[in-house]
Amino acid sequence: MQDLIERAAQTIRTARKTVALTGAGISAESGIPTFRDPGGLWDRYDPEEYATIEAFHRDPGKVWRMMKDFTELKTALPNPGHFGLAHLEQLGLLHCIITQNVDNLHQAAGSRDVIEFHGNMRQVVCLSCRKMLPLEEISLETLPPYCGCGGVFKPAGVFFGEPIPSHALYRSQDEAQSCDLILVIGTSAVVYPAADIPRVAKEAGAQVIEINPKHTDLTDWLADLIIQEKAGIAIPQIIAAIKAIAS
Ligand code: OAD
Repeated sequence: MQDLIERAAQTIRTARKTVALTGAGISAESGIPTFRDPGGLWDRYDPEEYATIEAFHRDPGKVWRMMKDFTELKTALPNPGHFGLAHLEQLGLLHCIITQNVDNLHQAAGSRDVIEFHGNMRQVVCLSCRKMLPLEEISLETLPPYCGCGGVFKPAGVFFGEPIPSHALYRSQDEAQSCDLILVIGTSAVVYPAADIPRVAKEAGAQVIEINPKHTDLTDWLADLIIQEKAGIAIPQIIAAIKAIAS
C-alpha cells in the first residue's frame, strides 16, 4: 500500500491540473450512510418512492418527512478525507472538486472550489415560481412547506428524473476535458452523467487515481492507480507522502 500511496503522491505533485470527483464514500467516515453499500440509504428507502421527481410530485409531504428524519445530514462534520482535499487545494495541488454529494462537507472542511453536481440540500426551490431560499428560512412545522406564491418547496438537491444544474454540468465537462489527473474518490460510479466524468477525463488524456475500499465499475477498465482504502485514511497518507517528497 505504501508504494501505491507514494506513486499517487508523485503523480499529484507533478500533474499540471488535478480535479477530484467525489461520492458518498468520502462522507461515510463522517457518519453519513452511502447509498448502495449494505445498510445504505437505498436499503432503508426505496429510491422509486423517495428520490424521483415523480415521487416528489406524488407525495411531497412523504419525501419531506424522510428528509426531516435524516438527521445525519444536519449533524455530520467533515472527516480527514474532506480536510485532506481542502489542504491539497491550499497547496495548489487540486484545482477543484466535482461532488455528487449534497452534504456541504467539502465546503465545511474549507474547500473553496466545489462544483455541486447534484445540487444541494441547504436550499429549497419553489416548483412554481422557482424562487430559491436557504432551508433554515422556511418553516418545516407543516410538511410539505409552501411558497408565498402557493407552489410547493422542494429541496434543491437533484432528484432522479431532473436535469443536472446546467452550470455544474458544463463546468464539470470542461474541467474533465482539461485536467491531466482525476482523483475518483468514494463513488460506485453507476449514476450518469456523473459516472461519465472520469471517462471524459481519461479520453482527453488524464490519468485516473481511484480511492475506494471496494472494486467499482471503473476499477478494471479506467483506473491507472487503485488505492483500495478508506478516503479518510488514504488522503492524509498521500499528503504526508507529498510533504516527504518535497522536504
Ligand atoms: P454509492 O453509495 O453508490 O457508492 C459509495 C461508494 O463509496 C462505494 O463504491 C463504496 O465502496 C465507497 N466507500 C464506502 N466507504 C468509503 C470510504 N470510507 N472511503 C472511500 N470510499 C468509500 O454512492 P455514490 O457513488 O455517491 O444521486 O452515488 C451516486 C449517486 O447515487 C448519488 O449522488 C445519489 C445516488 O442516487 C442522486 O440521488 C441523484
